[in-house]
Amino acid sequence: MDFKMEIATAISACTGMDANEAVNYIEIPPDRKMGDYAFPCFRLAKTLRKAPPVIAQEIIEKLKKPDFISSAEVKGAYVNFFADKSVFVRNVIERSVSASYGSSDMGNGKTVVIDYSSPNIAKPFHVGHLRSTVIGSALYKIYTELGYKCVGINHLGDWGTQFGKLISAYKRWGSKEAVERDGISELMRIYVKFHDEAEKEPSLNDEARGWFVKMQEGDDEAITLWKWFYEMSIREFERVYDILDVKFDSYAGESFYNDKMDAVVEELKAKNLLTESNGAQIVDLEDSNMPPCLIIRSDGGTLYATRDIAAALYRKKTYDFDKCIYITAIDQNLHFAQWFKVIEKMGYDWAGSLVHVPFGLVSLESGKLSTRHGNVVLMEELLKGSIDETRRIIEEKNPDLPDKENVAKQVGIGAVKFNDLYNGRIKDVVFSWSRMLNFDGETGPYVQYTNARACSVLKKAGDVDLSQAEYSAVSDESSFEVCRELNNFPAKVIDAAEKYEPSIISRYLVDLSQAFNKFYHDNPIIVEDKKVMAARLLIVKAVNNVLVKGLSLLGISAPEQM
Ligand code: ARG
Repeated sequence: MDFKMEIATAISACTGMDANEAVNYIEIPPDRKMGDYAFPCFRLAKTLRKAPPVIAQEIIEKLKKPDFISSAEVKGAYVNFFADKSVFVRNVIERSVSASYGSSDMGNGKTVVIDYSSPNIAKPFHVGHLRSTVIGSALYKIYTELGYKCVGINHLGDWGTQFGKLISAYKRWGSKEAVERDGISELMRIYVKFHDEAEKEPSLNDEARGWFVKMQEGDDEAITLWKWFYEMSIREFERVYDILDVKFDSYAGESFYNDKMDAVVEELKAKNLLTESNGAQIVDLEDSNMPPCLIIRSDGGTLYATRDIAAALYRKKTYDFDKCIYITAIDQNLHFAQWFKVIEKMGYDWAGSLVHVPFGLVSLESGKLSTRHGNVVLMEELLKGSIDETRRIIEEKNPDLPDKENVAKQVGIGAVKFNDLYNGRIKDVVFSWSRMLNFDGETGPYVQYTNARACSVLKKAGDVDLSQAEYSAVSDESSFEVCRELNNFPAKVIDAAEKYEPSIISRYLVDLSQAFNKFYHDNPIIVEDKKVMAARLLIVKAVNNVLVKGLSLLGISAPEQM
């Protein structure tokens, strides 16, 4: 049952306003003394040509109350509704203990492509890529929950002039042994050296360009080296994805489009969109107030944007998506706005289904992160650091916990993910161990701990016949608050998907946890009266169900003990 909709339907019957419109105006009063739901009558004033308080009065007189509403009253321009607590509570509990609570079939038959993580090979996977990975895989799970078919793509940065530089650097200063021993960090070392040396000796850049041209032509030596760097990088990335428990349906990165680029350029030409500018080929975007989108460099090389255009065309053809979502840092806003515009200019009516989902910067307490210069924080170090720190806390607080190592992993990784998902995407994230692992803060461990508490109560209670529940026993204020939160879950999942904002779920989980902890504090659960106990246990069960489901949508495990 959708409570707001029930009220909207009743209002519609006495005012003629469409229920689907009325439902948008229904508010939850900030002060519960004002009721559980409120309908403001301002919008009706124009159509009914009456003052809002008069309309409110008329609604009250004609109103046929829905079952779960015990009373309604006029307060100024508002009609305030009071829920019949035991009817409300029973209804919410019955729905929210079910395994499918929060899921929906609204996406049936629709496909969403999600482009996330997408690190650059031969460079360390740093904390900046973590956000894309974590937000992307959460959106993947959220959309799947709503019935969409999702395709997760890791659009690896595995093609471009930088690999010409890397080959140059390797030929000059690299060795097979060192690269095999140290992997990406050795590649990074020689790549940085290349930049330093090229500053003194610019001809190095020509050499590097030469190698990239060879790569594009399929030269044996160039491709063999590139493949070697590629495979080594993937191996390192997969270690991180394993720790994070993140998966992709496709690893088609930039290199995948190498042989699909000519067709794009031809099409742009045929559609009269290409112009020459200083030897380069561009799409002019002046009419959209943007700098031109570079398609071909003056040396003939294609660019990041060219490959994104080719990828979008390919994805549309291959997956026939309803939406294609790209999750990257906010500093790529212009890049996406530009090439989305190019797709539109090409005449594709699906240009509007391309969505850039930007996020804010990630920093450590000590400053911005960058791969090119020092201050590189490898993902693996960060994740292992969080697990170590959690292990230390467990040793201190609960040394007898069974399966400690596994719990340390679930909590340590959960803390990092939750920290990344707690603030609105656009906000910058600062990593702070003490804040992220605070069991009493607005953190992953706090939500996991609340769930573990619920699990332990359920276990202690043993087998109880829940069908004997006496719902009037759970109509006190704090029980009612928990149910009110439980009732919000399905709408939060939809809202998170529509706004591409997993933080809507993480914040919700903190609210639900707080409401539950208050309920738990106020109400003894294991009591003599079996009917009362059954009703309270049902709340515990529903909270457990929703916390586990909500955490899983964020890619976070829910240990039963911690
Ligand atoms: N490789 C890019 C980077 O690390 C992100 C790619 C995002 N996806 C895309 N289709 N452009 O910044």
